[in-house]
Amino acid sequence: MIIALTLACTMQEDDASARSAPAGPPQRAPETYGAGRLATATEIAAWDLDVNAKGEGLPSGEGTVAQGAVVFAKSCASCHGLAGEGITPNPRLVGRIPGDSFPFATDVKAVKTIGNYWPYATTLFDYIRRAMPQNALGTLTANETYAVIAFLLQKNAIVPTDAVMNATTLPAVKMPSRNRFVMDDRQGGARFR
Ligand code: HEC
Repeated sequence: MIIALTLACTMQEDDASARSAPAGPPQRAPETYGAGRLATATEIAAWDLDVNAKGEGLPSGEGTVAQGAVVFAKSCASCHGLAGEGITPNPRLVGRIPGDSFPFATDVKAVKTIGNYWPYATTLFDYIRRAMPQNALGTLTANETYAVIAFLLQKNAIVPTDAVMNATTLPAVKMPSRNRFVMDDRQGGARFR
């Protein structure tokens, strides 16, 4: 008997609140559901790593060829070989083709390296910082990354042995294959394959 009365009361309350609800379209979802929190500046910085071809996004810091030789021997040579010659299946990083010809469209066996293929030096920073050393991602400091790039560019005979790489000098490096790429500006239609 008591239970029945309680239920009846509850139903009455529900009816009352239903009647006082505003007429019109259903309520919109709230702005937030109170879940999660804003990312901190440090957390965003940890993900904000991109460096574009112009060099925008390069951090401060610098490194020399000699410092890079030490980094490369310690963190890269086990996969890429002491002189960047590559250890199968890890790619070769060093090597120019005589005359800097660019045979890749016709010779599918031609091996691409930093020296014979990469159009920009800046994107080495982006790639290495994100993806290398492949077995210990994110372990290189900015200085070590600049240094290992200086070493690799020197091994590819692109910069001299006393080169120092930083946010100013790296974008100024002219890669041998810089002009071997064109923008794909096809708009579709018959020309688009
Ligand atoms: C555990 C093995 C390993 C280590 C250590 C390693 N790499 Fe690599 N690296 C690879 C593999 C595998 C690839 C090819 C990845 C792919 O194509 O997706 C690669 C690709 C690269 C490329 C791109 C080559 C190209 O032209 O496409 C660069 C540059 C590079 N590594 C630099 C480095 C540097 C610098 C270090 C040391 C800081 C390093 N790697 C350490 C395995 C390794």
